[in-house]
Amino acid sequence: MKEADRTAVDDDAPSGRASRLASRRDEDACEFIITLIYERSRIRLHDGKQALIRARLGKRMRHHGCACLADYCDLLQSTGGHEEITHVVDALTTNFTNFLREEDHFQFLVDKALPTLLGKSRRKFHLWSAACASGEEPFSLAFYLDEKYPLAEGWDWRILATDISTKALAKAEAAVYAADRLDGLSDAWLRKHFQKGSGASEGHFRVKSRLRERVTFRHVNLLGAYDFPERFEAILCRNVMIYFDRATQQQLVNNLGRFVVPAGYLLIGHSESLTGLPVPFRCLRPSYYQKL
Ligand SMILES: C[S@@+](CC[C@H](N)C(=O)[O-])C[C@H]1O[C@@H](n2cnc3c(N)ncnc32)[C@H](O)[C@@H]1O
Repeated sequence: MKEADRTAVDDDAPSGRASRLASRRDEDACEFIITLIYERSRIRLHDGKQALIRARLGKRMRHHGCACLADYCDLLQSTGGHEEITHVVDALTTNFTNFLREEDHFQFLVDKALPTLLGKSRRKFHLWSAACASGEEPFSLAFYLDEKYPLAEGWDWRILATDISTKALAKAEAAVYAADRLDGLSDAWLRKHFQKGSGASEGHFRVKSRLRERVTFRHVNLLGAYDFPERFEAILCRNVMIYFDRATQQQLVNNLGRFVVPAGYLLIGHSESLTGLPVPFRCLRPSYYQKL
């Protein structure tokens, strides 16, 4: 028998059919997860992300004793599977962030944007970190505000910090960071803003309550329905739009526009752009926008 014929015959053998069916089931499972994540967060995981899906959901699959991704998808669709979807969103959102990331934005806010908006008399204002991940962004902002707008001198500012990932938000609310996450912060700021852990918390630092109390954390899906009583002098919505398609970016930025005070600011990630999108902001320079 020629080699090609042998392969054809082997593929039609029961084990060959079973493995084709299993692989089909696995592809369908990946497709199901991609659709689920898109519906929940509007993040588009492309076909090439199948390895990432398997790697990131591996822990949850083991937790539930699922032998394969398809079994895990069955679980997600079963009665009671709804709660597990939170874990899927947590596992598949990218929460990478750093203290003082894209630091020029913080400098701009305290040196230019806020002085212009507040004028001489207003001493109360609100800022929103709209995809705060594990909290480094809103706390970096708080460190900057504390320099220029000290609470002790009668300034009254608050930061709203939101994210879709409950796991990232829990970290943010705890405000505890390993020492190697604090690289780049000056010794003066480390001493001023962090408590050093001891015993079981050795090697970890917690943001002091004085600034923690200024930040309110909330679970918000930026593409869902949300409302807030306050309007914001500035919104930081950085390094999240990159995961969305253009139509979703437009919808998001129009929504954000509803919450910004007249002439207020929107700061997006340095690798993101709103060029060509009809949005209620004008571009001051790349990643810096002002409400029309
Ligand atoms: C890469 S992090 C950016 C964190 C921070 N803004 C920064 O620039 O360092 C992106 C964050 O966006 C959040 N995210 C993704 N989709 C979201 C959505 N639909 N609504 C709210 N947050 C979302 C993720 O959970 C993640 O924490």
